[in-house]
Amino acid sequence: MGFFNKLFGTKLEEENRMTKSNIGIILGSTREGRVSPQVGAWVKELADKRGDANYTIIDIADYKLTLLGEADGDASGAAAWSEIIAKQDGFVFIVQEYNHSISASLKNALDYLREEWNNKAAGIVSYGSVGGARAAEHLRGILSELLIAHVRVHPALSLFTDFENGSDFKPATVQADSVNQMLDQVIPWTTALNTVRK
Ligand SMILES: Cc1cc2nc3c(=O)[nH]c(=O)nc-3n(C[C@H](O)[C@H](O)[C@H](O)COP(=O)(O)O)c2cc1C
Repeated sequence: MGFFNKLFGTKLEEENRMTKSNIGIILGSTREGRVSPQVGAWVKELADKRGDANYTIIDIADYKLTLLGEADGDASGAAAWSEIIAKQDGFVFIVQEYNHSISASLKNALDYLREEWNNKAAGIVSYGSVGGARAAEHLRGILSELLIAHVRVHPALSLFTDFENGSDFKPATVQADSVNQMLDQVIPWTTALNTVRK
């Protein structure tokens, strides 16, 4: 029985991997003490409950990217970055506001690649003193240049009301609805754009 369950479970997982889109949840900040892992984990938990895609957290910090074009003795991080982004069909960007824009680490990570981003869909979840709205709007211009179709619904988290002391993530209940509404737009656009790339 255990054997059949195991076999059946593995087959089902394999089928899911083949038929469902891959959505990368990208953590945009890399600084020590960042809150993006808390926000990313919350989005992934909500997304996984939907069962409509394979959702994966992608942490830019793991890839140790140097500044684009800077001499780099070890290019393995850049190669791995290209590989993980190429595998995704769509994205959710976890975006934090730094000086009214996106973080330098997210901009650098976006600049590294081109075709890997093209003709895919994305949603934005941002945070900051005014919900990270200014950073999110800057990101939209960059995503357009990279041929990433960014959806309208945009969960915007406040550092004052969705975090305690600006660091302990305690989202208002209504924000979960907003994440689901955003994913309701990302998934069909991702499916549609899969046909453009094939
Ligand atoms: C360099 C820097 C600049 C910032 N500028 C802004 C800003 O312009 N507007 C804002 O709402 N918050 C600003 N903040 C606050 C950040 O949005 C807040 O610290 C957030 O937690 C950063 O995301 P992270 O913790 O994932 O790094 C800034 C923070 C840093 C570190």
